[in-house]
Amino acid sequence: MTTVLITGANRGIGLALARQYAAERADVIGCCREPARAKELKEVAPTSGGHVQIMQLDVSDEASIASLKGALSNQPIDILINNAGIVGPETQSADCIDVEGWIKTLRVNALAPILIGQALRDNLRRGFGKKLVAISSDAGSISIDCYAGSPSGRNRYAYRASKAALNNGMRGLARDWADDGVLVAILNPGFVRTDMTGRRAAGSSASISPEESARGIIRRIAELAPNTSGAFQDYRGEPIPW
Ligand SMILES: NC(=O)c1ccc[n+]([C@@H]2O[C@H](COP(=O)([O-])OP(=O)(O)OC[C@H]3O[C@@H](n4cnc5c(N)ncnc54)[C@H](OP(=O)(O)O)[C@@H]3O)[C@@H](O)[C@H]2O)c1
Repeated sequence: MTTVLITGANRGIGLALARQYAAERADVIGCCREPARAKELKEVAPTSGGHVQIMQLDVSDEASIASLKGALSNQPIDILINNAGIVGPETQSADCIDVEGWIKTLRVNALAPILIGQALRDNLRRGFGKKLVAISSDAGSISIDCYAGSPSGRNRYAYRASKAALNNGMRGLARDWADDGVLVAILNPGFVRTDMTGRRAAGSSASISPEESARGIIRRIAELAPNTSGAFQDYRGEPIPW
């Protein structure tokens, strides 16, 4: 049976991934900050018939990452999905930067996936899949302007920097852990209707559902191979320029 660990599994894209993997009878380890409040994640196992274990993880907290590692011990993990992310502070424009907000955004979006990968490296080595996945964003591309025409998007300096740094780190792990057989996917999930994009706000222009995004992500992970490890792609498999 495939074991999949997902961070930020209590809502949005992470919850959709947990639901679909559970429906495929994978063993899902759904990580979230507040398990007691993860009502929808708790409902995944009974409604899918799959096996879902819920574990506490605040990705921004090194002690929490160490506790997760302690709880998992040597359990093999086939697919590790670093999905948890934040959009960052209100103030992150060409005119003004919220310094603490910037640092927090980098910590959650770029540093945590590397620290979690390092903490669980041995679990990945013990798995059959050996797949390390980062849910990135085309906002991390330096050569395309994915926010053209969106004044609020254009201001996301911290978010953009965090996803560019995430891509760089994951690309490094694809290179440096290749000898262990670890494959790395760097995936843009599309413009998805979640809390992050204001799914509840009138006029949210996010174009696809979390379910559609998760279907594409799962397909990309299934076809991940040495020749695509470290590539930057969207959920449909379209390459994204760095
Ligand atoms: N939605 C889009 O259009 C879009 C586009 C490109 C990339 N992405 C990326 O896709 C990923 C998922 O986004 P989403 O749209 O599903 O967002 P979302 O609905 O806002 O969900 C974010 C998830 O991340 C978790 N999280 C945030 N900080 C955390 C922390 N310190 N420790 C543990 N979990 C934490 C949240 O947990 P809590 O409930 O505890 O806050 C929540 O489960 C993110 O990496 C995002 O950057 C999304």
